[in-house]
Amino acid sequence: RPGAEDFLPERRDLESLRAAAPGCRGCELYRDATQVVFSEGAPRASIVLVGEQPGDREDEEGAPFVGPAGRILDKALADAGIDRDAIYLTNAVKHFRFHRQGKRRIHEKPAVGNIVACHPWLEAELAAVDPAVVVCLGATAARSVLGRPVRIQAERGRIQESADGRAVLVTTHPSALLRQRDDPGWDAAYDAFVTDLATAAKSAN
Ligand code: URA
Ligand code: SF4
Repeated sequence: RPGAEDFLPERRDLESLRAAAPGCRGCELYRDATQVVFSEGAPRASIVLVGEQPGDREDEEGAPFVGPAGRILDKALADAGIDRDAIYLTNAVKHFRFHRQGKRRIHEKPAVGNIVACHPWLEAELAAVDPAVVVCLGATAARSVLGRPVRIQAERGRIQESADGRAVLVTTHPSALLRQRDDPGWDAAYDAFVTDLATAAKSAN
């Protein structure tokens, strides 16, 4: 069976998972990416934030949310009263999917096949951290955590239970806010994002 399962270590603690992740060949994305981007943050966090996949900067630096989307996320976390160092940050897909346009690398959304292939890593991380709430940033994260297609605007901002009994809140991806930066609705969209993060934090206390 294709997918990451065969590459997970026997011991499923975070350090063993992190050490094994660079060896994953569970889908084709490892081939063109610079490196795996595993996760960052507190191993006993009460809040886990799940993004889509590493971006261009994350692929180069090997850490999640260090690029432009990360800057918006940092500000929103601060505005929601959440300490970035106290949470656990990861992605639904651990390698950067892109195509080349001249010298530039253009982000491509992960395919459902990539999300499914990479899911064993996320599942193992959630089992190891065992947070009070999982926040899905965008449709890719929600697809992985809830195991079904999710329309973000229809489901955002409320705590729901996943099939395996986890408290889950879905919200927008900070990259969506980046793309909206010059829209008249930006302030409202940003405030809604902060409100969703605060709702998750409140439920985790
Ligand atoms: N976008 C994501 O979803 N994750 C990252 O780590 C960076 C950008
Ligand atoms: Fe493995 Fe996930 Fe990377 Fe695919 S994206 S090779 S499943 S770590």
